[in-house]
Amino acid sequence: MNLTNRSFLKLLDYTPEELEGLLDLAADLKAKKKAGIRHDALRGKNIALIFEKTSTRTRCSFEVAAHDLGMEVTYLDPSGSQIGKKESIADTARVLGRMFDGIEYRGYGQSIVEELACYAGVPVWNGLTNEFHPTQILADFLTIREHFGHLKGINFVYFGDARYNMGNSLMVGCAKMGLNFTACAPKKYQPDAALVEQCRAIAAETGAAISFEEDPAKAAKGADVLYTDVWVSMGEPVEVWAERINDLAAYQINQQLMDIAGPRAVFMHCLPAYHDHKTTVGREMGERFGRDAMEVTDEVFEGPRSIVFDEAENRMHTIKAVMAATLGYNG
Ligand code: CP
Ligand code: NVA
Repeated sequence: MNLTNRSFLKLLDYTPEELEGLLDLAADLKAKKKAGIRHDALRGKNIALIFEKTSTRTRCSFEVAAHDLGMEVTYLDPSGSQIGKKESIADTARVLGRMFDGIEYRGYGQSIVEELACYAGVPVWNGLTNEFHPTQILADFLTIREHFGHLKGINFVYFGDARYNMGNSLMVGCAKMGLNFTACAPKKYQPDAALVEQCRAIAAETGAAISFEEDPAKAAKGADVLYTDVWVSMGEPVEVWAERINDLAAYQINQQLMDIAGPRAVFMHCLPAYHDHKTTVGREMGERFGRDAMEVTDEVFEGPRSIVFDEAENRMHTIKAVMAATLGYNG
């Protein structure tokens, strides 16, 4: 596998073999880190991290992974740069491309990260856009592979708003890697028809199946992975909360759904998650809409079949693999 100088913008740009290669590299780098084996082959390189939306996991993963690989990091926060306000994306890309060996970007439209990559002349990594969150899917799939021993044939069910970055990327990832993907949501929250068509064509090659189900109990039956995400994403107006809760409350992952799925099933979530009233927003939602106004119950989130923290840890190992491979280090 040679991914040197490639950007990582969306899973659609990568073949199943390349994605598998990135998972293998991540597993190797993870084993090296756990064994205390140095893997700082990218010493002397510099990367920029641009965040136009907030982050805990993605930012920390890029920073820790870069440090492990021997690189230096510059962080540009949502207010601390000229990007898109006083300076165009194309100009920013050409400036940063002269200084840095790689650039991470988290922000709004996918077109922005694509434009950045077009002008930067160095690898650009998508740290989340409205449309896609590709590094998250690598972490999710490494976690599934560690837990079940394989990806092909896994029955993967996504509950909730399936039209946004997580639903889109998981559907593409499942199609590419041969997992059976079901989006369980009311019709208006199901993914874009053109993307579905594209995924079905990929699935025909890999043996995956793409389906939709409005009934949560039917979707949970036979599921190996029950996955959800917040109902209102970063950048969406607070006014949509009430409508989302009204539309998606029946799609909350609770113990009853886990029991329908059976003892082999696991719970996954990209995080951050609303599962109790301990956060400011969680408290406010609880007060305004009641206990069930969240995408997962605390019982499931804290339960024995929740693998969300393995998943969060794997963000770092997989992001490390993406940076390493695209900057020319293959373990
Ligand atoms: N899952 C994820 O991307 O988390 P952050 O928003 O904390 O980076
Ligand atoms: N859909 C969520 C994912 C966060 C990792 C968001 O965009 O806010």
